[in-house]
Amino acid sequence: MSKIKVAVIGCGAIAQRRHIPEYADNGNVELVAFADPILERAESMAETYGGQAFASFEELLAQADVDAVSICTPNHLHASMAIAAANAGKHVLVEKPMATTLEEGERMIEAARNNGVFLMVGHNQRPMPPHVKAKEILDSGELGKVLTFRTSFGHPGPEAWSVDGAESWFFRKDEAIMGAMGDLGVHKSDFIRYLLNDEVAEVAGFIGTLDKEGTDVDDNAACLLRMKGGAIGTLVASWTQYKGGDNSTVLWCERGVMKIGTVDGDEVIVEPVDGLVETYKVGAMATNEKQVPSGVIDAFVDSIATNTPPAISGEEGLKSLQVILAAFESQRTGQFVKL
Ligand SMILES: NC(=O)c1ccc[n+]([C@@H]2O[C@H](COP(=O)([O-])OP(=O)(O)OC[C@H]3O[C@@H](n4cnc5c(N)ncnc54)[C@H](O)[C@@H]3O)[C@@H](O)[C@H]2O)c1
Repeated sequence: MSKIKVAVIGCGAIAQRRHIPEYADNGNVELVAFADPILERAESMAETYGGQAFASFEELLAQADVDAVSICTPNHLHASMAIAAANAGKHVLVEKPMATTLEEGERMIEAARNNGVFLMVGHNQRPMPPHVKAKEILDSGELGKVLTFRTSFGHPGPEAWSVDGAESWFFRKDEAIMGAMGDLGVHKSDFIRYLLNDEVAEVAGFIGTLDKEGTDVDDNAACLLRMKGGAIGTLVASWTQYKGGDNSTVLWCERGVMKIGTVDGDEVIVEPVDGLVETYKVGAMATNEKQVPSGVIDAFVDSIATNTPPAISGEEGLKSLQVILAAFESQRTGQFVKL
């Protein structure tokens, strides 16, 4: 089989740390082009991995011979780039949040469908080993139904992550649209839907900019979720956890508790109501400092290679985004929002 020709759009932190090295490690892929308006970033990737560098996405799309693209740009560009790439017949892996409005997300899905290409969203919480293990345990039924939960994702903010540091687009509302909620909250709305095999029915959101200066994007959110299946829980996203950080989820179920990411080294802990505590060492959760292969890039490549629609589809990404947008509406209106 000839290799899948891939271009990476946006050569910042997530492209450099995850997409590009994971494509390079995948034997089915040839990295052929990189685009970034800061041309040196694209050139530096092309020097290391081979392929051409472009200062603009449009030029890349017009000139490079590619089968698939990864879109690793600021949030406000995801929809227009994904739609243009799909219209040019390219498969698309777009970073989260897939879009900034529901309408944008729907247009992306439609463009992929109309052009017979795959659209996948970079929701890399799903394939993380602790989350895979947790899902396997929950799906086995040993804990019974989930009654209540909390899920939380926090770190000190994107200053130490983005290639542009404190000057990053992450802090500019016209480019980011959402702050901690678009960065971290959407990971957790996706994860809880996936883990519980359930959809969110109702959301209340308290969202604010509590500590970051010079920005009006949110740096903290605490939300209440009621799931269609009846479980109720909380979702927290934070950019102001200056010490410690948190990427954890706890489920209180009919027959016990499952704790994910609460204890370093014991990534999943099951405490049955009757029975012995079980701990699973299945590999650490990725953090900004400690990156591990995401699994997302290999899954995208496998989808293309086997002509199988991706599990983390545009439709999935859109449902996860909808929860976050509902939380903003709740914050704005002071009302609970039904989905
Ligand atoms: N899945 C994850 O865990 C994860 C983690 C971090 C970021 N992300 C997402 O990835 C996306 C990128 O974030 P990042 O952390 O890499 O940001 P970053 O600031 O490190 O890099 C963004 C890059 O995009 C480039 N860019 C800006 N406009 C462009 C354009 N028109 N064409 C091409 N490139 C352009 C910038 O020059 C920069 O190099 C965001 O949507 C973010 O939410 C996902």
